[in-house]
Amino acid sequence: MRELALHILDIAQNSIAAAASLVTISIDEQPGRDLLRIEVADNGRGIPPEELAQITDPFFTSRTTRDVGLGLPLFAQAAERAEGKFEVKSVPGRGTEVTATLRYSHIDRAPLGDLTGTLLGIIVPNPELDLIYTHYYKQKSFLLGTGEIKSTLGRIAISHPEVVSWLRDFIQAGLDDLYGGE
Ligand SMILES: Nc1ncnc2c1ncn2[C@@H]1O[C@H](COP(=O)(O)OP(=O)(O)O)[C@@H](O)[C@H]1O
Ligand SMILES: [Mg+2]
Repeated sequence: MRELALHILDIAQNSIAAAASLVTISIDEQPGRDLLRIEVADNGRGIPPEELAQITDPFFTSRTTRDVGLGLPLFAQAAERAEGKFEVKSVPGRGTEVTATLRYSHIDRAPLGDLTGTLLGIIVPNPELDLIYTHYYKQKSFLLGTGEIKSTLGRIAISHPEVVSWLRDFIQAGLDDLYGGE
């Protein structure tokens, strides 16, 4: 089963390809309400309505041969397998918002997987990009904003090995704390 973190990385790559300067990733884990909501939003160039209609068309989504890629359809499938919903909203020139809402306890719900790796995979190769990451688990939350980190770093690059190593520990500790030893 493919990790949801890999889908998130894929979807964020779309944002970067669409020249976004800001990507917002929000994860909301609410086992009590049997809900896992994942949202990736950007301020990139957006998707023209005719293309958006194809992307969200279930016929196109379930097709195995198509000339456009499979990033969005595969994420949509992961949501559908977990009795979830998948939605893409986009305004050309403004940005795009991809939302997947999955049933938390569904047997076919993929694990979140390596979120630290996904976040570093977005942040490190894209030093110009601002990433805002919000992760809720029950009542607790973990927040990461690279804009703030970069202004603290000043002229030191966010991709500097020592910064990356610090970031990895910071994210890992934040997520560990979020789950509170669970
Ligand atoms: N965040 C986005 N902003 C602008 N266009 C997007 C975005 N996400 C997807 N698209 C458009 O939808 C197409 C299909 O995306 P996807 O299914 O991930 O396949 P691929 O990225 O391999 O083309 C992209 O090629 C792009 O044209
Ligand atoms: Mg893609």
